Amino acid sequence: MSMNMRIGFIGVGGIAQDHIRVLKQIENTEIVSVFDLNKEQAQKAAEATGAEVMESANQVLDKQRIDLVFICTPQFARGDLEVTAARRGIPFFVEKPVGIDMEVVRKKEQIIRETGIVHAVGYVLRYMDTVQTAKRYLQGRPAHLIQGFRLGTSHPSKWWRQLDMSGGHLVDTVTHQVDMIRYLAGEFREVRAQFGRVSFDQTDPESTIYDAGAISFSMNSGTIGSLTESCVSPFYSGSDIKFFGHDFFVHLSGNGSNLTIIDNEQHIVETNKLDPGYEQCRTLIEAIRSGSQASILCSYTDALRTLEVTLAANQSAI
Ligand SMILES: NC(=O)c1ccc[n+]([C@@H]2O[C@H](COP(=O)([O-])OP(=O)(O)OC[C@H]3O[C@@H](n4cnc5c(N)ncnc54)[C@H](O)[C@@H]3O)[C@@H](O)[C@H]2O)c1
Repeated sequence: MSMNMRIGFIGVGGIAQDHIRVLKQIENTEIVSVFDLNKEQAQKAAEATGAEVMESANQVLDKQRIDLVFICTPQFARGDLEVTAARRGIPFFVEKPVGIDMEVVRKKEQIIRETGIVHAVGYVLRYMDTVQTAKRYLQGRPAHLIQGFRLGTSHPSKWWRQLDMSGGHLVDTVTHQVDMIRYLAGEFREVRAQFGRVSFDQTDPESTIYDAGAISFSMNSGTIGSLTESCVSPFYSGSDIKFFGHDFFVHLSGNGSNLTIIDNEQHIVETNKLDPGYEQCRTLIEAIRSGSQASILCSYTDALRTLEVTLAANQSAI
């Protein structure tokens, strides 16, 4: 590895811009190659970073040229990119969700695990100090009830409104809340969902995703819970998870950035002070330098389990 960590990007749309912004703040890193199906988009990213535009994703995945690849294509457009990177010995970052087909994702997970390559998946909320505090507090304190929601507007890209491309709002976006519940309270046992399209039927009949969902679940701990979600709520947006115990209450709001903990001894209110996107990239780069996966907060194996929950919810509604 050269002194500078040389980074390649495959897919340089919305979220990739965020990673590029953060990487510019991290010393001894340089973005050297980019590829996007949209040539204009690739050119723009190249101009902003000094990278070279490559002709294909395969060309980006050149072990001689890069030390790390960011895979930021949408979940329907990942092909074998992660597996190719892993087999070529290139550490990778891949966005959440890790796919839309469990069988494909399971096969990839096995290969990635067997290669032992250092990698991370973009469940970025895990990197907030509030989420870490909540995790420590909830250790050994099972809630009897979890209640959550994520309400807001839709992603601007066309692929997002097609169920066979994004998996829908739950699989693509509310996955962060599902992942946070898993991260803080353990594994899901059973999940059931109902979805609707009252608004999309009027405003976007061409779309195939749902505009609202109500999901109920149980967890291995015996905890039960519910999550509601909407992606067509122009006048209100927010996300929230509450954990109710017989002797405690934990509340994460604002996508995890505000934390309240109440019990008989304390009433804590905290606001996240970290840039989770920065922490996510910094942690990955340090992990690659040290050759150890240990500090990465979300692996492909872990992310697979979150996808399993959201796809099971979709399946339950058919
Ligand atoms: N972690 C987060 O908080 C977060 C936030 C937003 C998006 N995401 C995830 O990131 C991924 C991308 O989302 P986005 O918001 O950047 O979408 P986007 O539509 O803004 O950008 C996607 C880019 O990928 C390119 N692309 C599509 N297919 C490609 C292919 N086969 N090869 C190369 N380039 C290709 C498109 O041209 C586009 O530039 C999605 O999986 C999404 O769920 C994660």
